[in-house]
This record gives sequence, structure tokens and C-alpha cells, in this order.
Amino acid sequence: MTLSPEQSSSDRLHLCEVGPRDGLQNESELVPLETKVAFIDALSLSGLPEIEVGSFVRPDVIPQLADTAEVFSRIQRRDGVVYSALVPNERGLEAALVASADKVSIFTAASESFAGHNIRASIEESIERFVPVVEGAHRAGVPVRGYVSCVVACPYEGRIAPSAVLDVCHRLLAIGVDELDLGETLGVARPEEIEELLEHVGGVRPLEEVVLHLHDTEGRALACARRAWDLGTRRFDGSCRGLGGCPFAPGAAGNVATESLVRLFEGMGETCDVALDRLNDASRMLDEIF
Ligand code: HMG
Ligand code: MG
Repeated sequence: MTLSPEQSSSDRLHLCEVGPRDGLQNESELVPLETKVAFIDALSLSGLPEIEVGSFVRPDVIPQLADTAEVFSRIQRRDGVVYSALVPNERGLEAALVASADKVSIFTAASESFAGHNIRASIEESIERFVPVVEGAHRAGVPVRGYVSCVVACPYEGRIAPSAVLDVCHRLLAIGVDELDLGETLGVARPEEIEELLEHVGGVRPLEEVVLHLHDTEGRALACARRAWDLGTRRFDGSCRGLGGCPFAPGAAGNVATESLVRLFEGMGETCDVALDRLNDASRMLDEIF
């Protein structure tokens, strides 16, 4: 399975909006189905090439996203936009395929403690669990993103060595994931730590094909994104208004704001094709809730 032309690597900036998933999964208030659909439909008009719609995980663990199947069935898909979903296991994959997700994302971590808390498995167990997920997705013609959380730091173990991240990247590539996504779950990275990480990961995968998923707790996410761009990274996750967080990463703030990424790269003269006023229209859909 390879990524389709619009998903495949290029030297151009590629932004994935994770707000409907990462942005909403940690909110104490449940967002109504209609609001989610309106949010995603508005995002679809912004020029973003990829939107993470939700997740097919245990509804008692992440009740905020328990209606992901309904969200998929109600959104108006736009040609050329990839609509993806997080899946932790075969059951999640089955639901994602029924919902006609264009891409699925499996997720593990470079930290045993975080994997244990987040997905109730060791790293090794998670990789074994993913084998049939990747096979099943590929049989259905659906590409697979592989998230590695805690690529710089873990809420339970502190700083994580790049070699530990590299090891998980190798294992994910060995089972056939199409895309690696490096999750800086805590939002505490310094640009030099991102540089060291990417120097390692760049040895196993061209950096323009690797996604960087930055949270922004300590205010350095944009500096990290800038450093990553200079090193060759072209694919970034962002979340409208910087919403986001993981219930198993206490104290971490939201994702880097998609709007800030757009301003950063436009300011550098890069072609972005994402309209800021449309992003504002989309995030206004959430005004009543937040
Ligand atoms: P488990 O308890 O080990 O699963 O959970 P299990 O296989 O033992 O099954 C237990 C029960 O859950 C069973 O129900 C299953 O059917 C049900 P019962 O028979 O007892 O009634 N179940 C499911 N139900 C619906 N959908 C499913 C599913 N799977 C099992 N897919 C599991 C393991 C991983 C499934 C669970 O811990 C879970 O769902 N965790 C969700 C974790 C999560 O969503 N975390 C946030 C996203 S990750 C993130 O935010 C980081 C990221 O942004 C990158 C970064 O920033 O670093 C991606
Ligand atoms: Mg995240």
C-alpha cells in the first residue's frame, strides 16, 4: 500500500488538522454531533488536505469521540481531502472501514509507561496487535499512519532518548505502516531536541515523509516546527485554536495551532493553500462550547 498522489511525499508543506480528534478528545464538555459535523464541514472548505475526524476507541475511555461513526456518516466530504481516524485494534479498524475512513492511524509510544496507560499494552504487545490492523487496512486499500507518542518526553518517565523512538519507528515500518507520525505529546520540546530526534529518524525515513505532531505547553512548538522545516520536515499536524491534549498526558496543553503554523510558513514565503479566514469560520463553530 502506498499513499495516493495527494498524500504522497513532496517538497511542499502538508498540514493535517487533528482538531476534531485530538482537539476534542480531552474536553470536559461533550461537543454535540451537529457541532462536530459543522466544524469538520467548515474545515473541509479551508484548503486543508487532511482532517483527522475522530477515533474508534473504547467509548468508555474516550466518551468525547464515541459518536465518530455518526460524524463520518454526516460530514460532507470534499474531493481531494483525506478523512482519517485513529484505531487502536482490529475492532477499531472494522468500524473505520465501515465508516469509509480514507486512512487509519494506529498509535503506540516510545515510552512503556505511556503505552501502558494510554493503550493498556506494552510497546511490543501494541506492535503485535497492529499487525492484523495494518494487513486488514491494506487489504481494503487504506493507508496506515503510525503514531509514536512521547518522542521527546513522557509524563511518567521524563526525557526519552531518540534511540528509543527510532526503535519503535523501525518496528512500525517493519509491519508496513505507510507514514510515521512523531508525537511530542507533552509540548515541552526544545528545537535542539527536535533536531536530534529528526537526525535519528531521518536515517530510516526521508524527513519529508515523516509527520511532526507538536503539542505546545511551553510555547516552543513554533520554534520546533521552524527547526524541523529547516531540516526537511514538510508534514505537520495542527489543531484549530490550539485545542487538544491526551487524557493520559496530564498537564500537557493542546496541539500547536493550525492557524499559527499557517502564519509561520506563509511568513517564510511557503505556499500553503490553507485560508486563514476559513479556519476562523471553522473554529467559530466551537464558540458556543468553549
Ligand atoms: P483494553 O481494555 O485492553 O481492550 O483497551 P480489550 O481488548 O481488553 O477490550 C475491553 C473492552 O473494550 C471490550 O468490551 C471490547 O469490546 C472493548 P467488553 O467485551 O468488555 O464489553 N473495546 C472496544 N470498543 C470499541 N472500540 C474499540 C474497542 N476495543 C476494545 N476499538 C484500548 C485497549 C487501546 C482499546 C483502550 O485502552 C482504548 O480504547 N484506549 C483509547 C486511548 C486513546 O484514545 N487515547 C487518546 C488518543 S492517543 C493520543 O492522543 C496521542 C496522539 O495525539 C499523539 C501524541 O500527541 O503523542 C495520537
Ligand atoms: Mg496528540
